[in-house]
Amino acid sequence: MDITKLFRRDLRDLRPYEAVDSPEALAEIAGIPAEDIIKLNANENPYGPSPRVKQALGNYGSYHIYPDANQTAPRRALEEYTGIPAEHILVGAGADELIDLVLRATLEPRDKVISCPPTFGMYSFSTQVIGGMLISIPRDKEFQVDLPKVKKAMGTMTKVIFLTSPNNPTGNSITEDVVLELLEEDILVVIDETYFEFSGQTFAHLVPEYSNLVVLRTLSKWAGLAGLRVGYGIMAPRLLQLLMDIKQPYNINAAAEVALLTSLNDLDYLMHNVEAIVQERERLFTRLSLMRGIAPRPSLGNFLLCDIANGKALPVFRGLAQKGIFVRYFNVPRLKNSLRISIGKPEHTDALVEALEQIFKEL
Ligand SMILES: Cc1ncc(COP(=O)(O)O)c(C=O)c1O
Repeated sequence: MDITKLFRRDLRDLRPYEAVDSPEALAEIAGIPAEDIIKLNANENPYGPSPRVKQALGNYGSYHIYPDANQTAPRRALEEYTGIPAEHILVGAGADELIDLVLRATLEPRDKVISCPPTFGMYSFSTQVIGGMLISIPRDKEFQVDLPKVKKAMGTMTKVIFLTSPNNPTGNSITEDVVLELLEEDILVVIDETYFEFSGQTFAHLVPEYSNLVVLRTLSKWAGLAGLRVGYGIMAPRLLQLLMDIKQPYNINAAAEVALLTSLNDLDYLMHNVEAIVQERERLFTRLSLMRGIAPRPSLGNFLLCDIANGKALPVFRGLAQKGIFVRYFNVPRLKNSLRISIGKPEHTDALVEALEQIFKEL
């Protein structure tokens, strides 16, 4: 039989999420060993997790037991970390799972979701997979959310808007007046604070006041746990209850739970690395600003969006890849002259700058 006849019709046109290649695949492209590549394409933490995580994972004795579906210990630990009561906190397999859960909890067929590109691709991806309707309201010239256009686009079937602060890939944050104005609307306002620890700016304190505000966070970036998949959402208890009811019961696996609890007990170490990344961001910004052909934009995240002159973003991307340095190129019209570069260790900055100097000489 033709198996595709059984597939959901609205998924036929789905544009799959473009995940980054594995280090092994990148190594093959560059023709060098995987340990020699410089991976600056997924905003990962170059310092990795706390060394205590590895130890705790090795010592954990209950991998044969299902994890706690109520997430009691992680939620308590996150209450201490965030200063927000645990009744507002739900843990997910990365911020990605929470994006999916929020949409599954709210969308009926054809309900609308507003996203403001260029931004993180998972909002549009999850909306499509769930069968919602995506309304894209492009950011203005300075990559700020275009509030008048957003408000104009809102209709009775608009359920959710995603705001990202700081935004990936543009690095800028959202202003409080825009947030407050949108919170007055009858929609769920989801603020994705995946890069909070690098920016220090948050709207989480508004959650107890606004039942339509959800703040998303993750341990993928600042705590170096991207591979273990652990993030959390801060939201009204009534919404949290619905998400709790519809989630896979054991969504946080035992290893992720151990890693989260251990990380939150080693904040000095992890925040020291966050500071090093922020300092390195500023050093890379200065070095790139002094070069011809590339212009970095100020950023509050662990990455810089850089404009590349003369339509050369793709050749520069390829030139770097040949040298084993992988950054992010987005194949969308608005970003076709840009590259997003994640912040690495100082030696990665030096190698990147040297490679760019060579590439620009040869272009
Ligand atoms: C804005 C934003 N939200 C969410 C995520 C995904 O986070 P997680 O690894 O917690 O799923 C990313 C990852 O790059 C991101 O940039």
